Amino acid sequence: GPNLNLLGKRQPEIYGRDTLDDVAAQCAALGQELGLDTLLRQSNWEGQIVDWIHEAREHAAGIIINPAALTHTSVAVLDALNTFEGPVIEVHISQVHKREAFRHHSYVSHRADAVMAGFGIHGYSLALRHMAALLG
Ligand code: DQA
Repeated sequence: GPNLNLLGKRQPEIYGRDTLDDVAAQCAALGQELGLDTLLRQSNWEGQIVDWIHEAREHAAGIIINPAALTHTSVAVLDALNTFEGPVIEVHISQVHKREAFRHHSYVSHRADAVMAGFGIHGYSLALRHMAALLG
């Protein structure tokens, strides 16, 4: 989701110092170990994310998504995820429930099969391991 391209530079006291490239490297290595092909994408544009979810309908077995701010605002991202048949895992780097009240509601959680919050970028690895288990 939006602003995650600035991971490592943006509010490091909340999101840590690891970058999106670090997340990509971590997911690619773990995906290989688990026998999963992973594709990591980031956009600041809601419509682009909706389009990628539609693409995933044809090409992906599961979706791990950090919708960032769109978590709390986007019925469009929720509706797109509702068209996807495989498992969906929602990841937040920070512990959103400890933060401002507006971060406590997630549209995406209405669809997500599992939710991670507060594990830092390690949450993506934990989600990937759970995805491997779900996909058998
Ligand atoms: C976030 C939490 C959101 O509330 C915020 O808007 C983000 C990142 C997280 O990973 O902790 O941009 O999804």
